[in-house]
Amino acid sequence: MDETMDIDGSKIPQHIAIIMDGNGRWAQKRGMPRTAGHRAGIKTVKRIIEFCSQIGVKYLTLYAFSTENWKRPEREVSALFKLLVYYLRREVMELNKNNVRLNFIGDISSFKDDVRFEIERAKQLLKDNDGLIVNLALNYGGRLEIVNAVKEIIKGVKSSKISEEDIDEKLFSNYIYTAGMPDPDLLIRTGGEYRVSNFLLWQIAYSELWYTDTLWPDFSEKDLLSAIADYQERERRFGGL
Ligand code: FPP
Repeated sequence: MDETMDIDGSKIPQHIAIIMDGNGRWAQKRGMPRTAGHRAGIKTVKRIIEFCSQIGVKYLTLYAFSTENWKRPEREVSALFKLLVYYLRREVMELNKNNVRLNFIGDISSFKDDVRFEIERAKQLLKDNDGLIVNLALNYGGRLEIVNAVKEIIKGVKSSKISEEDIDEKLFSNYIYTAGMPDPDLLIRTGGEYRVSNFLLWQIAYSELWYTDTLWPDFSEKDLLSAIADYQERERRFGGL
């Protein structure tokens, strides 16, 4: 695979997280409705998942819908959910072929029945795969995730399942959506914005950040390789020397 020539195969980031931004602008630039941008964005999702599987990334966390995205016009929100259902129905077999497991992070309890049904179905179908784990962040907010973890820990303390002295960073990590997973090594944001936007606030404490002006529908395997090459050049010290 000649695209991988520039990177060190022995130092592939285990966990990559991506803020997929720029679908709307991609469509507007072409005089198309914003939803056409989201459709194009799904094609990128497919390509990047497949590529991450091939190069041996273990976890890929994608920000698909934030708790703030409800503020968008109803029409766009419902189009996004339709696309999600369509994607899950259509792509689950392809994901299976690639040995991908799907995991969902965020509060999906308020989603409509058909959406939750597809989510459950896809999860079930792929649950025995042991390749790339894709975390789809849906109705996800990093602060809310932390608040919910605090509430769960308080419940544990009240019912004497947890003692106060046991509360540390490691214990806390077991009460967030990514419990049991390594933190992202690399956080990528497309679309020319330099914000974290309430994504994985706890988990990105030591992640390398990589930004590009490229809009998500145009984001390519080559772009991902440049991100990984830059990541490999940076020395990660975790606060040490
Ligand atoms: C940001 O573009 C993108 C989103 C809010 C949603 C991301 C969704 C997809 C890539 C498609 C759905 C994914 C799956 C897996 C079903 P934007 O609309 O904020 O773009 P803009 O900043 O140009 O307006």
